Amino acid sequence: MKSLEELQKIKETQLEAIRLREADQKAKIVVGMGTCGIAAGAREVMSAILDELGKRRLTNVAVTQTGCIGLCAQEPLVDVILPGKPRVTYGKVDANKARQIVAQHVVNGIVISEWVVNRGEE
Ligand code: FES
Repeated sequence: MKSLEELQKIKETQLEAIRLREADQKAKIVVGMGTCGIAAGAREVMSAILDELGKRRLTNVAVTQTGCIGLCAQEPLVDVILPGKPRVTYGKVDANKARQIVAQHVVNGIVISEWVVNRGEE
């Protein structure tokens, strides 16, 4: 028997999945996995992102990795590209920040400005 809270949670994650599915195009998350990215903890960031997406059953988010993007001092770097929105690059991301980026930005579309190091063109 599941508690009310658990059921509510399940409902929310399903709604999130539907919302993203309805967005039609895929959201994209790119993790910088160059040498310095990995040294700064990009692997942990990547696995936190995959874990968070899995927990929320967000199957329509493409997660890829990239090499050096020339911002070593800001590693680990994570790009979030939502359909129809400019690319947003987050710097000095750790596992905890990565989970919040998924929850706030990828799911709710709210950019966490204080961690942003670069914004792309629309
Ligand atoms: S390897 Fe990270 S900016 Fe060059």
